[in-house]
Amino acid sequence: MAPILPLLSGLLSLAVFSHSAVAAPATEALNKPHDNNTYEYIVVGSGPGGGPIAANLAKAGHSVLLLEAGDDQTQNVNVSQWTNFLLSGNDPATRWDFFVKHSDDEARESRYIRTTWRKPDGGFYVGLDPPAGSKRLGIYYPRAGTLGGCAMHNGCLTMNPNDLDWDDIARITGDESWSAKNMRKYLVKLENAHYNSTSPHGHSGWLDTTMLDSGFSSNPDAKTMIELASQASGFQISEASDLQQRDMNGDQANRDSLVGPFGGVSHIKPDGRRSSPGYYVKETVDAGKYPLTLQLESLVTKVIFDKGDTPKAIGVEYLKGKSLYSADPRSNPNDKGTPGKAYASKEVIISGGAFNTPQILLLSGIGPKAQLKKFDIPVIVDNPDVGRNLADNYESSMLSLAARDVNGPGQIFPSFFKTTVGKIRDIYMWCGGFSFEGFWPGFPQDHGPKQYECAIVHMNPRSQAGSVTLQSANPRDVPNINLQFFKDGSEKDLQAIYEATSWVRSWLGKAPTTAGSIGPFTEMHPCEGVVGSQNCTVESQKTYIKEQAYSHHATSSCRIGEVLDSKFRVKGVKGLRVVDASSFPKVPGGFPVLPTMMLSEKATEDVLADAKKY
Ligand SMILES: Cc1cc2nc3c(=O)[nH]c(=O)nc-3n(C[C@H](O)[C@H](O)[C@H](O)COP(=O)(O)OP(=O)(O)OC[C@H]3O[C@@H](n4cnc5c(N)ncnc54)[C@H](O)[C@@H]3O)c2cc1C
Ligand SMILES: *[C@@H]1O[C@H](CO)[C@@H](O)[C@H](O)[C@H]1NC(C)=O
Ligand SMILES: *[C@@H]1O[C@H](CO)[C@@H](O)[C@H](O)[C@H]1NC(C)=O
Ligand SMILES: *[C@@H]1O[C@H](CO)[C@@H](O)[C@H](O)[C@H]1NC(C)=O
Ligand SMILES: *[C@@H]1O[C@H](CO)[C@@H](O)[C@H](O)[C@H]1NC(C)=O
Repeated sequence: MAPILPLLSGLLSLAVFSHSAVAAPATEALNKPHDNNTYEYIVVGSGPGGGPIAANLAKAGHSVLLLEAGDDQTQNVNVSQWTNFLLSGNDPATRWDFFVKHSDDEARESRYIRTTWRKPDGGFYVGLDPPAGSKRLGIYYPRAGTLGGCAMHNGCLTMNPNDLDWDDIARITGDESWSAKNMRKYLVKLENAHYNSTSPHGHSGWLDTTMLDSGFSSNPDAKTMIELASQASGFQISEASDLQQRDMNGDQANRDSLVGPFGGVSHIKPDGRRSSPGYYVKETVDAGKYPLTLQLESLVTKVIFDKGDTPKAIGVEYLKGKSLYSADPRSNPNDKGTPGKAYASKEVIISGGAFNTPQILLLSGIGPKAQLKKFDIPVIVDNPDVGRNLADNYESSMLSLAARDVNGPGQIFPSFFKTTVGKIRDIYMWCGGFSFEGFWPGFPQDHGPKQYECAIVHMNPRSQAGSVTLQSANPRDVPNINLQFFKDGSEKDLQAIYEATSWVRSWLGKAPTTAGSIGPFTEMHPCEGVVGSQNCTVESQKTYIKEQAYSHHATSSCRIGEVLDSKFRVKGVKGLRVVDASSFPKVPGGFPVLPTMMLSEKATEDVLADAKKY
């Protein structure tokens, strides 16, 4: 296991990548734009969906233009040192600020404690009592509009979903290549695993993975809590030491029902630097021997079609300029950008993420006819499901204050899986001396050195009724996003989160309470009071969970099934694919970044298989 990563200062002095800012001459020669700016492939967006496939296609010898709206922050220490991820999440150099709704119920929306407002002076106000004249923005939802996408500011947790999540895609599409067994091969291919596991892993891929040190052997508080949670999971204390290093990405036959402690696998190099698609793209460009052209600060505004019997995607239009998307806090409406066009002789691949990919398709004329008509967008394909079926994992926090300061504040103690109302494990959580209560400008709130949280992720949400719709035909505007939390299946989903919360309470309540001990804990929410002697009703807790849940794993807004076929091809046109989190039929597992990268590897094969067709 990697040693516990010291926070901030120690790491800042470590060497970071020293990439040259401009491409080497050799690359320029290789990539010399053809007369009419034509490449074999154009990829839009360099996140976990777009970055790997762009690099892979170039490595396979094809000319690729990768267009990315953001700029290059790979050397920004907020980004490159993973322990700075809270800084990077708030960094205006990478941030794209979205504001979403959780439902159509205005009364419920207005009770969301971290509601964000624009004050008359232009700044943000977060809370329920804004200064007069403030405008309600909604629920903050961060994204990273930068080279490498959200994998440049995320928490780096790297989790292969339950096998059933993959097998379900194989079942609904009838395409066996989606089976968990087959998908594992992409995980092994892309990873360079630096941790010990009893399962076979890859050690020569582009994504470095390490297992976080839980603190079990060095931090007595971590040890205490892991042992308590192990026992509450039905294990002996003597097993806790091994369990906290269990591989969440192993190939155990019955992995969907394995519960209890696991080690946290993360896309981090052993020295604490972030590993991600952004660096993979940079390294591929800088190698100077692959036909990959990376064009930053280019906001793609629509796909260009050659209108035959079946329209064929032949290129894209974009606006070149800094921070042109209005979600970028640096954007200035007076900077209009310079229009440009690029052509693809083979295919266009859209990888803008769960909010931007449907926006790009809609702007291009692929989507519900009525919506397109409303904005005078010529219809290429009338498809009611573009921007529909948006879903997200529900997240909740069981936040408490220990009786004294927690050892190693901010440290990530290990993680646990739990099965509640589902047949297989449906809850993932991680606990430690931190506070994470959702997102708002400036998140998180520090509750002092006694804070102790179990962050709870509900996998496989039953509601999938969210939507992304155009607000205007201006590509620089953000779309309307409504996640429709708990619209369907709310009873079971709320019961699942409630059970997970109660389970945490059951072992927090067993913490030692003698003088100087970490316990007793005093819960802050969802049920205020000294753990063990609260008397909140189940209903009041479920109401709290329902109204205050948050999320950051949006997927499925252009999903396989309705919008795409099982090979990522957009239905109704030729030469166009969508490869990113929006492609998933359902939210994959607890954390989407690894599944999205696996999808990018899979799509590489599918695209190459068709390369001779065009
Ligand atoms: C704060 C935060 C923490 C997270 N933590 C984790 C975690 O620990 N583990 C995990 O598994 N997942 C985590 N996630 C989620 C994960 O990062 C995303 O699911 C994943 O990045 C999705 O990849 P993507 O390629 O679909 O989209 P994105 O990562 O959003 O990438 C899309 C890219 O396309 C670009 N783009 C968009 N529109 C255009 C356009 N019109 N023209 C040109 N370029 C465009 C964007 O700038 C961006 O670079 C986190 C997300 C956030 C926001
Ligand atoms: C893996 O195990 C070997 C043998 O026990 C040990 O030497 C090595 O340090 C371990 N590696 C990690 C990353 O823990
Ligand atoms: C671009 O140029 C190539 C080669 O000269 C040609 O085959 C192709 O048709 C052109 N594409 C467009 C869209 O003009
Ligand atoms: C890091 O992010 C913070 C905001 O979280 C920002 O104020 C600071 O300037 C950033 N640092 C760098 C080196 O960009
Ligand atoms: C428990 O609930 C009862 C009735 O609702 C209330 O009177 C009492 O004060 C509560 N006790 C605590 C410890 O909150």
